[in-house]
Amino acid sequence: MNVVSVKDYQELSEYTCNEIERVVRSTPHSVLGLATGGTPLGTYREMINGFKERNVDYRHVTTFNLDEYIGLGRDHPQSYYTYMMNNLFKHINVSPENIHIPNGSAEEMDSECLRYERLIEEIGPPDLQILGIGSNGHIGFNEPGTSITSETHIVELAESTRKANARYFSSLDEVPQHAITMGIQSILKSKRILLLASGSHKAKAVKTLLECLPDEQFPASVLKGHGDVTLVVDESAGG
Ligand code: F6R
Repeated sequence: MNVVSVKDYQELSEYTCNEIERVVRSTPHSVLGLATGGTPLGTYREMINGFKERNVDYRHVTTFNLDEYIGLGRDHPQSYYTYMMNNLFKHINVSPENIHIPNGSAEEMDSECLRYERLIEEIGPPDLQILGIGSNGHIGFNEPGTSITSETHIVELAESTRKANARYFSSLDEVPQHAITMGIQSILKSKRILLLASGSHKAKAVKTLLECLPDEQFPASVLKGHGDVTLVVDESAGG
C-alpha cells in the first residue's frame, strides 16, 4: 500500500480531485467509484470547481457509488442518492443515465444486489475507486468480519457506524439498521484505489491499518492484497 501524506483536509481534497481529473482527462469514458460521508465532501467541492474553472468534462464518465441505506427512499434528505445529487452530480455534467447508486428501496433486495454487481461487471470495474475508512476499519459498509469474497450484499450496520452517522439525523433511532453495499471483492476489482483518511478521529484506524496484516476483522487492511492502493492521509490522521 502506497502512502501519500498531506498537510490537512484541504490538501487531501485537492490531491484526490487532481487524481480524479487526471483519470477523466486521459480517459473520457472512465469509470469512477465514489463514496459518501464527510471525507470526500472537499474532493467533490474541488471537482465542482474544476468543472466550472478548468473545463473538466464528465459527459462520458460513469459512476458507481459504494452503498446506500435501506429503507430511506432515494429522495430522503439523508439518502446517499440525495447526498450525491446535492454534493456533486447536479453541479457537473455527468449524464444521469451514467450514475449508478444501489437502490435501497428495491422490492427485492437480493435481486438488487445481483443487478448492481452485474452492472459493475458489465460497465466497470472503476478505473479509480475513492474510499473513506470507518473508525472500525470498514470500507463501504463492509463491517469487521465481512468476507474478502463478498460481492454487493445487504448488511446490518454496526452500532459504532450508526452512532458515527447519527450526526446527520435528528436521533440515533432514525439511522437505518441496514444498508446495501458493494462487497470487499467488488471493491478489490477496481483498477486503482485511493483510501482517504482525515482528522484525529481517524488516527487510530490509520495506525491499525498500517500496522496490521490483512485481516477480515479490519476490512481496510485487506486492501493490502491489491496491487494499486494509495492511502491519502493528513497530519492529524497520522500522516
Ligand atoms: C460511505 C462509506 C463509508 C465511509 C466511512 C467514513 O459511502 O462507504 O465507508 O467512507 O464510514 O465516513 P466519513 O467520511 O464520514 O468519516
